[in-house]
Amino acid sequence: MDGARIIDRLRPDAEGERQDLVEGLFASHARISPKYFYDEMGCALYGAICRLDEYYPTRTEIALFQANRDEIAKAIGPGRQFVDLGAGDCGKAQGWIPFLAPRRYVAVDIAAHEIGKSLARIAPDFPGLPLVGLATDFTHALDLEGVLDGSPALFFYPGSSIGNFTPKEAVRFLSCIKGQCATRPGSTLLVGVDGKKDKALLDAAYDDALGVTAAFNLNVLRHLNARHGFDFDVAAFRHVGFYDEGEGRIEMHLEARRDTAVHVDGRERAFLAGERIHTENSYKYHAAEFEAILGEAGFATIRRWDAPAGGYFVFHAA
Ligand code: AVJ
Repeated sequence: MDGARIIDRLRPDAEGERQDLVEGLFASHARISPKYFYDEMGCALYGAICRLDEYYPTRTEIALFQANRDEIAKAIGPGRQFVDLGAGDCGKAQGWIPFLAPRRYVAVDIAAHEIGKSLARIAPDFPGLPLVGLATDFTHALDLEGVLDGSPALFFYPGSSIGNFTPKEAVRFLSCIKGQCATRPGSTLLVGVDGKKDKALLDAAYDDALGVTAAFNLNVLRHLNARHGFDFDVAAFRHVGFYDEGEGRIEMHLEARRDTAVHVDGRERAFLAGERIHTENSYKYHAAEFEAILGEAGFATIRRWDAPAGGYFVFHAA
């Protein structure tokens, strides 16, 4: 494809990744990081989730952006280096670029296969805008060496993906973004955050009638079988997704329908019927809770917009 520079900084160390996975699987409470959801099938399924009646975050954020485009664009200012964290199909950035007139657009995502495709798709709309694709696990480390210059950047983290971090991890991650801002004076963060709301609405959003979220969750096993040669019996698991009001988070698990096992490097990890693999947390915040997190991360100037329907926030922080 022409016009875009693609930089691959995914941990080339497949062995290290495998070790992390094995450590999580063999823990007494087995876990798989949600970052493994996003192979090609997983990205397609996530796209389908975003169109579900039950999954309100995507359309709620879109409505918020549409209602406040000019005001938010004015707060950010023109000519920024637009760093899109978890760019996916670049659909959200596409809506912003005409309003922000950035000097460069950097699409960052762990799904390397998506980035080239997405940039090729939007390139004809923005002739003259330098496009960069950066394949990296930014939850691990955000290495922007040689990608950004010293001029002000906008770090764009929409979609309430920040909810995948625990509140402590979120503070750490946002401190790192604040550090990136500090080395380029005038830089800011725009982040989308899902609000705490009625349990029935949240439960439905993460356990939809069509079973798309179930397929998205189960697909992680298929992905690991293909990528790491594991031998999960996908049909032996079922999707569990619910809101835990005490923790203030959605939890997703894969629960063994019957006794089953996976074999890795000659070792066996058995799962008893009913045993679960924890695959995702999605934290929900009161506006004040998230404002405190931004404060702890070092952001001193914070402005907030609420979704027209409520229950979803976008923060601009410097
Ligand atoms: C991509 C992390 C924002 O937590 O709502 C959707 C992922 N998981 N349905 C979310 C997800 C199940 C999504 N994020």
